Amino acid sequence: MIVPVGYASAHGSTHEVAERIASGLEEAGHRVECHHLEDGDIGSPASRDACVVGSAVHNRDWLPGARRWVERYATELSRMPVWMFGVGMSRAPGHRVRARAEQEQERRVVEALREVVRPVGHKVFSGEVHPDHLNPMGRTLFRAMGGRYGYHRDWSVVDAWTGSVAERLAARRGRRASPGGGGGRG
Ligand SMILES: Cc1cc2nc3c(=O)[nH]c(=O)nc-3n(C[C@H](O)[C@H](O)[C@H](O)COP(=O)(O)O)c2cc1C
Repeated sequence: MIVPVGYASAHGSTHEVAERIASGLEEAGHRVECHHLEDGDIGSPASRDACVVGSAVHNRDWLPGARRWVERYATELSRMPVWMFGVGMSRAPGHRVRARAEQEQERRVVEALREVVRPVGHKVFSGEVHPDHLNPMGRTLFRAMGGRYGYHRDWSVVDAWTGSVAERLAARRGRRASPGGGGGRG
């Protein structure tokens, strides 16, 4: 079973996270294809049995390439287990606003896509924020939120999530290999 890992990234953090997820799944024995969804339509996932898809979060939304791909192949994706991830700045803001920012991101980003595809799992990872990524208004808002610029990735969180996805995929593969085993989303 080949598992596509599709992602959209503007400044590279989501690319790195997607590559890390892909490597983790490969190390766990899965066959993986990693695709940048902003590079153009990678085609239908119909022939795949499962999918991992994610995006950088900009202005509380996924980047257009990732969102478009999920919406376009919603029917195909609804027939297989899908794991979603977002890369935002959830660890960057100061303590007080962090939990609220994470909840808000979960609510805004995922609920909208959940109308289209119901993921088996969803996770928001922290990426990287630098002043030159933001316009003057963005920098003002970021400062007002008590944000801290810099590198906020936590690979242990990415690896733990990847491990849980790998286990679910292995269980699914086991079920499919066993007599009477079949498809389904679990
Ligand atoms: C224009 C812009 C808007 C952003 N808006 C959000 C946001 O609404 N929520 C959030 O959590 N992070 C936001 N971020 C932070 C990015 O998601 C974060 O920097 C992430 O690591 C970007 O991933 P990338 O390097 O793959 O593009 C924004 C970044 C930029 C440049």
